[in-house]
Amino acid sequence: MPELSEDYEIRRFDAAVQGEPGYPEAEKWVKAVSFGFHESTRSPDHVAKSLETYRADQRIMTGVYQTQDVAPGSLAADIPVATFGTLRKTLNVGFGRMLATHLVTAVTVRTSHRRRGLLRRMMSEDLALAKSEGLAMAALTASEGSIYGRFGYGVASFERTVKVDTTARFRLDHQAVGSVDVAEPKVLLEIAPEVFERVHRLTPGSIDRQEWYRQLASGSLGRDGKEDPAVKVALHYGPDGDVDGYVSYKFLGWETEPHTMHVVDLVAATHEAYLELWQFLAAIDLVDRITWEEAPLDDPLTWALADPRCIDSSDSRDMLWLRILDVVRALEARRYPGDGRLVLEVLDPLGLTAGTFTLAVSGGEAAVERAEAGVAPDLTLDVSALSSIFLGAVCPVTLTAAGRIREHKHGASLQARGLFAVERAAHCLTHF
Ligand SMILES: CC(C)(COP(=O)(O)OP(=O)(O)OC[C@H]1O[C@@H](n2cnc3c(N)ncnc32)[C@H](O)[C@@H]1OP(=O)(O)O)[C@@H](O)C(=O)NCCC(=O)NCCS
Repeated sequence: MPELSEDYEIRRFDAAVQGEPGYPEAEKWVKAVSFGFHESTRSPDHVAKSLETYRADQRIMTGVYQTQDVAPGSLAADIPVATFGTLRKTLNVGFGRMLATHLVTAVTVRTSHRRRGLLRRMMSEDLALAKSEGLAMAALTASEGSIYGRFGYGVASFERTVKVDTTARFRLDHQAVGSVDVAEPKVLLEIAPEVFERVHRLTPGSIDRQEWYRQLASGSLGRDGKEDPAVKVALHYGPDGDVDGYVSYKFLGWETEPHTMHVVDLVAATHEAYLELWQFLAAIDLVDRITWEEAPLDDPLTWALADPRCIDSSDSRDMLWLRILDVVRALEARRYPGDGRLVLEVLDPLGLTAGTFTLAVSGGEAAVERAEAGVAPDLTLDVSALSSIFLGAVCPVTLTAAGRIREHKHGASLQARGLFAVERAAHCLTHF
């Protein structure tokens, strides 16, 4: 573990709600996180609401505090100079299998204390703890692409911002099987988690959602901590009348040209619901464009449109970063689309799960064992590369071309591509 200078101490605590003894500490932690992400200082009410959602998610807060007197006038010693949040949710690892995953969030280090090893210390200690508690996977989303590879994280899913032209050009080749109707936004407080649960079970790469999402989708709690009266909601009803999809959206104002409806959340549990919600969005009068920031890269909408160029998708980016903490447990948690055997030499910069492993798949089920000494690997790769290919969204052949995987047996990367494939494109609709 890297040394932490005596100038600092680390404290870990649960999210406390107003009136509880730990509240002042939790409140200061939340304020430090907002500061780290350049947000305006949160109002006391916003902090209280955030902490209620953190409590519901059983979030653990880690703060680094100065142990010495602080300079006169500078922020008090009880405001953390570094923050790190964690919560645990399930990750769909393909073919409906769920894996308990350690989610890392709210990583900040105050500018005046950066590059002293605080992030390294918090991350190494936290991942070791998660592994010791039996977790096989950690995940995060990254503000910058260069920070987390060194800790063994690899990009495992992508998303894109789309701007969809919904003028007369927009024609979907789809005969509706259900219907869409506008609803009272607050109905999503109850319905959103139910619909999401179905999507979560169907979608590789999906992470179960935090409490906050249903509040966001229903307009109950906007990103600014206030109720958002601009949010509108439409529900999709399947052929048997049950709600199997919804879209939450808001108008960006008459001054935005072309007139635009922005998707706050779009969750569809069937292929038909997805296309029919798009048909609904495109049919909204007085609006010529729909924007959505969490669209999949491999998007059925593209292929259902008579003119796929209705979609302007210039902004594609990495979304979910995974970090395998335990190769044996993570690889055995998956189902595989075909049988095969691969010997993987896994390097790990934090030493949590390094070694040579035999992955033997039979009937779609994997047996993973540490290989005996002297067994030659088919592939050598860093744990970040293994984490990247784990959900089938990053191609091992491409990582080999990039020098991130070393292929010792000709064709082993292609074999890995087949083995790690999942039943449908990985996509994560949960930011955390
Ligand atoms: C990113 C951040 C958390 C780094 O904290 P830090 O305490 O300065 O990091 P450390 O001193 O522990 O550095 C750990 C390693 O990461 C590297 N590193 C840190 N920040 C980096 C960055 N932005 N880009 C590239 N490398 C970075 C350091 O060089 C160091 O490398 P080494 O240990 O291999 O030599 C901090 O700069 C920050 O709060 N940034 C603003 C908020 C943010 O971007 N948070 C990330 C949210 S996902």
